[in-house]
Amino acid sequence: MPKVWHGLIREYKDFLPVTDKTPVVTLQEGNTPLIPTRRLNMAINPDIEIYLKYDGANPTGSFKDRGMTMAVSKAKEQGAKSIICASTGNTSAAAAAYGASAGMEVFVLIPDGKIALGKLAQAMAYGAQVLQIHGNFDEALTLVTEISAGFPITLVNSVNPFRIEGQKTAAFEVIDQLGFAPDYHFLPVGNAGNITAYWKGYQEYLAAGKSRKTPRMMGWQAAGSAPIVLDQIVENPSTVATAIRIGNPASWKGAVAARDESGGKIDSVTDEEILAAYRMIASLEGVFCEPASAASVAGLIKSNKAGLFNPGDKIVCTLTGHGLKDADVALSVIDTPQTVDAKLPSVLKALGF
Ligand code: F0G
Repeated sequence: MPKVWHGLIREYKDFLPVTDKTPVVTLQEGNTPLIPTRRLNMAINPDIEIYLKYDGANPTGSFKDRGMTMAVSKAKEQGAKSIICASTGNTSAAAAAYGASAGMEVFVLIPDGKIALGKLAQAMAYGAQVLQIHGNFDEALTLVTEISAGFPITLVNSVNPFRIEGQKTAAFEVIDQLGFAPDYHFLPVGNAGNITAYWKGYQEYLAAGKSRKTPRMMGWQAAGSAPIVLDQIVENPSTVATAIRIGNPASWKGAVAARDESGGKIDSVTDEEILAAYRMIASLEGVFCEPASAASVAGLIKSNKAGLFNPGDKIVCTLTGHGLKDADVALSVIDTPQTVDAKLPSVLKALGF
């Protein structure tokens, strides 16, 4: 019998702030694939080993489910009836889904016109009350923080510490799946909760004797939204990777600590580099991620060109969200199909036979 997965809270309860009385709100998230790459690996550098932690395979299609199962379970434990968040899309989809499962009211603030359609569709379908603001994510986060301070509504952005607790389990899974900690861990950075969470997870597994070392944490911002790299707030962030279009990350300090304590780096990649990596991951490995996720692989390609790696280095890149979330970008940057008559000669001609 294959082992049945019970969701990350039950699987990692010894490492999480839960008790037997915590009402677990779960969609059986976690246990996402760690995919060893072949063609991508050959194209980038055959002397290193590249793995993709595909968190787009979570129930709502992004890593946000990891934090949300914890945040919503703890909110329920504390008697909350409603939750609120600001989002570039994925957090709102996850909050809406877990809120629906818990029977809670969910309020979401998003930047007008700047989130991928799939994510908006999810939040609406799960029944959240969604409000678009004429403003960016940073402004939305300020607003929901004020609302949750003034009303009995639990804030479930990653400033909620239970979100980080849930998200750190991705580092546990990497070690459990690989058998050891990688040399480098690459991931996109937006609000900077995830890099903070991974670093916490890697440190906790080391302390528990589950690994012998921690990886260097390598965080990647989009060039038009790179406040940590520039060391200053970006007032009007812009990037094709709307998920990480953030100018003033809430977990800024956590990201800097992860970078400095692990001996890693936080740097930026251009939209062109992000989209080139996005196409490579899909066409060489059959793994479809959203543009923001590809910032991790874009960062790996950039680091490889700079000569960072030694032969044999083991590298994990997190793919944070599913490609279907943002089909518009795929069709606009890659191509749209040709249309022909439903006749064999036309089809054969178009296919090049
Ligand atoms: N990748 C994806 C697909 C995301 O949705 C996000 C963040 C990130 C990377 C960056 O992670 O914020 O922990 O540094 N999305 C948030 C949201 C902001 O509202 O869905 P981070």
